[in-house]
Amino acid sequence: MKCILVTGGAGFIGSHVVRLLVTKYPDATIVNMDNLTYAGNLENLRDVASQPNYRFVKADICDYTQVKKILTDFAITGIIHLAAESHVDRSITDPFIFARTNVIGTLTLLQAAKEHWKNDMDSSLFYHVSTDEVYGSLENGGFFVETTPYDPKSPYSASKAASDHFVRAFHNTYKLPVIISNCSNNYGPYQFPEKLIPLFINNIRHNRPLPVYGKGENVRDWLFVEDHARAIDVIFHHGRIGDTYNIGGFNEWKNIDLIRLIIKVTDRLLERPEGVSEKLITFITDRAGHDLRYAIDSTKLKTELGWTPSLQFEEGLEKTVKWYLSNQAWLDNVTSGDYQKYYEEMYKL
Ligand code: NAD
Ligand code: DAU
Repeated sequence: MKCILVTGGAGFIGSHVVRLLVTKYPDATIVNMDNLTYAGNLENLRDVASQPNYRFVKADICDYTQVKKILTDFAITGIIHLAAESHVDRSITDPFIFARTNVIGTLTLLQAAKEHWKNDMDSSLFYHVSTDEVYGSLENGGFFVETTPYDPKSPYSASKAASDHFVRAFHNTYKLPVIISNCSNNYGPYQFPEKLIPLFINNIRHNRPLPVYGKGENVRDWLFVEDHARAIDVIFHHGRIGDTYNIGGFNEWKNIDLIRLIIKVTDRLLERPEGVSEKLITFITDRAGHDLRYAIDSTKLKTELGWTPSLQFEEGLEKTVKWYLSNQAWLDNVTSGDYQKYYEEMYKL
């Protein structure tokens, strides 16, 4: 692959994918296409922005003309598609933007890729980055495997499921070479602090309430973001066309247990008495339709492509807490402006 387009490269996971590809493949050009929504931040890529094989283009994935022009101008041979609206709570408040970006945006990219590659499908690849949430909620034990039937339950997961279906439909109908991966919850540096882990680290630092939905009994399966980026690289280069791969670290945590661990690590790094911030825990009204449990079985990825997570969770969490505590300016920057309004309306705390 000579010229790879990464969509959503200024976001959380996208920035780690871009950093990995720019550094690992100096002979390939990595084009980051992002329209810089509230979740997109070029600061996330400051360390690689001046590399000769990196380009940034501000563009909307829903704009067919612009997408087609980028594919042509850069002679794109591979697309790694991450651009999306990604926060479940926002999808509950405003589902329409999720349908626009995640469904129409993906369809626009697929159609543009199909036209761009119509004479050379064989040496191209459309890699779609999706989520484990498309499988629904595990209420009775077990794991999500690649053949688990889709059963999305939030407007976010419904929009991601719809986009996955369009990707498979383009493979089946037009023979577009595609691969899909479905990953569990990511954590690590540069995650927008509306998501559980960075939100709670920031609130602990500022002695603000920690808003726990319901009783904190929901379970999530956490993976360090750099391990997700490594998995994407492996699948993009070695995955089977038309196939699906689940990505996860077999690392389930009940929210309340995870929150207690975040408090313990953050208090220690802030040199506060251990556990003093537990008093900030505030149980609030549950998220509407809150999925009980996600758990990914990533055996296929390990067996077929040899990927395994590189970090133990305790190590990854420590790295993550340290990063947020040392990057308060980044947090202040992304939480200024509109985010304050969102926070007040969302939590009323
Ligand atoms: P994010 O919200 O941090 O970043 C999304 C990026 O997409 C931002 O840079 C934003 O500016 C860009 N974007 C949004 N709308 C766009 C548009 N119309 N045109 C161009 N760019 C646009 O998201 P994330 O958490 O990094 O997730 C990236 C992808 O991975 C998403 O597709 C998400 O569904 C998937 N995913 C996320 C997780 C997770 O835990 N965060 C887990 C599994 C899968
Ligand atoms: O599973 C993969 C998905 O993980 C991705 O597809 C999504 O893009 C990503 O946002 C994430 O979704 P979740 O809803 O699981 O992540 P979030 O960080 O929002 O919440 C994690 C858990 O913590 C969830 O059970 C809800 C709970 N929570 C979250 C917030 C923000 C709280 O109790 N309080 C909060 O304030």
